[in-house]
Amino acid sequence: MSLTRFEPAHPRLQRSELAVPGSQPVLFQKALDGEADYVFLDLEDAVAPADKEPARKTVISGLLDHDWKARGKTIAVRVNGIDTHYMYRDVVDVVEQAGHRLDTVLVPKVGVPADVYLVDALLTQIETARRIPHRIGIEVLIETALGMANVEAIAQASRRLEAMHFGVADFAASLHARTVSIGGLNPDYPGDQWHGALVRMVTACRAYGLRAIDGPYGDFKDPDGFRAAARRAAALGYEGKWAIHPSQVPLANEVFTPPAAEVERARRILLALDEAARAGRGAAQLDGRMIDAASARMAQNIVAIAAAIAARTAGTPALATTRA
Ligand code: GLV
Ligand code: MG
Repeated sequence: MSLTRFEPAHPRLQRSELAVPGSQPVLFQKALDGEADYVFLDLEDAVAPADKEPARKTVISGLLDHDWKARGKTIAVRVNGIDTHYMYRDVVDVVEQAGHRLDTVLVPKVGVPADVYLVDALLTQIETARRIPHRIGIEVLIETALGMANVEAIAQASRRLEAMHFGVADFAASLHARTVSIGGLNPDYPGDQWHGALVRMVTACRAYGLRAIDGPYGDFKDPDGFRAAARRAAALGYEGKWAIHPSQVPLANEVFTPPAAEVERARRILLALDEAARAGRGAAQLDGRMIDAASARMAQNIVAIAAAIAARTAGTPALATTRA
């Protein structure tokens, strides 16, 4: 292992991330009552240009009027892209007025590390000026060819960064890819046309201590298609997936919760390796298969996520009790 280490970002459970249009406050209460680990109130693509300014006010009220944290949610706001004239006011108004209730800001269409730097600088000033007691996190959408080309540099752009999201819809548009439905597979392609991008992004995330989150699956009447996409992402190391409709929340929670048998086996692996270590051996056998220190590291990942899920179910804060 290299001596160069990047500390993991502030940990949070992020199996399901419900997208809620900032212009539709009637959906806020439903999001609060649902089972999503994460909710983001959207000021970007789900909000029409004419509604951008009223939506900003609605989002601020949504943060102030509801105690998202008490309901076990991580709450984020997706601001507009930094190439729009909405973004600076999204950040300034939302964070000045409701930053003490906000966990993270989700920045879309990030292309270069300086895009993150800009948001970091704004947050730093507003937190100081408004005496916001916690550090607000930044999450970014990798959804353009430029963002993917710079994904490793972007991953190192700020200590506030917590997660990257793969925005398959805009990514497809940016690549001029031929698609069938958002996040679905084009049968003309032999396999998963998003595989290369998914792997590149999750590798950048893990190298620099961030979570990787898979983006939308547009056909909310196709639970099997959603599950299949989520399972492909989970197999690669993604920790969660967006839900663009409440019906997708339980599907994401199901896929990104390690099955009980997997958790049980992870615990047995750790026990078997403890015993082997006491006997002076590095490797052991379990169920007829060789296991070693790498197996222990994989098992620890599973046990940690299972513990976080158990803590959330028990109503105690998941994964961490304090904010960075
Ligand atoms: C999400 O914003 C996407 O473009 O997929
Ligand atoms: Mg997008």
